[in-house]
Amino acid sequence: MERVKTGIAGLDQMLHGGLLPQTATLVEGAPGTGKTTLGMQFIYNGIVKWNEPGIILTFEQFPSQYYRDAASFGWDFRRLEEEGKLRIIMTSPEVSRLDLEQVGGQIERWAREMGAKRILVDSLSHFERLSGDPVELRQMVYGFINGLKREGLTAVLTRESPALLGEAESYDEGLAFLVDTYILLRYVEMDSAIHKALLVLKMRGSDHDKDIRQFTITSRGIEVKSRFEGREGIMSGSPRRMAASFVEAFVRR
Ligand SMILES: Nc1ncnc2c1ncn2[C@@H]1O[C@H](COP(=O)(O)OP(=O)(O)OP(=O)(O)O)[C@@H](O)[C@H]1O
Ligand SMILES: [Mg+2]
Repeated sequence: MERVKTGIAGLDQMLHGGLLPQTATLVEGAPGTGKTTLGMQFIYNGIVKWNEPGIILTFEQFPSQYYRDAASFGWDFRRLEEEGKLRIIMTSPEVSRLDLEQVGGQIERWAREMGAKRILVDSLSHFERLSGDPVELRQMVYGFINGLKREGLTAVLTRESPALLGEAESYDEGLAFLVDTYILLRYVEMDSAIHKALLVLKMRGSDHDKDIRQFTITSRGIEVKSRFEGREGIMSGSPRRMAASFVEAFVRR
């Protein structure tokens, strides 16, 4: 089956090849876990590796911040924008939602003009102020996501979770139903240091790895590593070691 690769090796492996075309993926995590980085990497790799133009829709950061953040990974977003392969749009949830509802809206025209295949929406959390009613809010987000799919875009949407460490109590079941793929980024305290964990919670229409993997952010972006061997309770934020003998027998060489 055709896949839209993120170009992040370990992640594509977990996704059994990559995302499915014209689906929406929610990347949720605490501040600083790397949601924006993952999204930018998805867009950047799409352009340079597969010649798939991309759009970044932002509700919080100025485009200049993306240029700067991307540059720290060696990604020249300014040049890609000049070449017409990337477009960073700063807007509001209200405007973009209404824009996508009409035929021939601005986002649709830009996407067609560029031949855009990928979009990063950073972040979906800003939709929450559109309505205090969870049902209405869900309908708005649903309409927005469908609008993106209608344009033929494969979307990565970020969402902040307020909990720094600990159980994912902010896990939003409503949103989980609206998206096709749900990726969680988490801080994990281990051996007196903070590590980062990544988990693919669900992927509609495909099998995926259920492992909880370690990842790091380096000067090349996100790198997904091995599983947390010999630990349990990773998603609680403070894992325990499994029985040492078990680890000796099955994990250590
Ligand atoms: N060039 C780099 N090399 C290594 N790490 C970096 C580099 N640039 C950024 N980082 C790390 O990436 C993290 C920020 O990632 P990012 O902005 O993607 O997080 P986020 O989840 O989007 O956060 P927020 O919720 O605040 O938007 C920082 O904690 C920083 O340590
Ligand atoms: Mg961010």
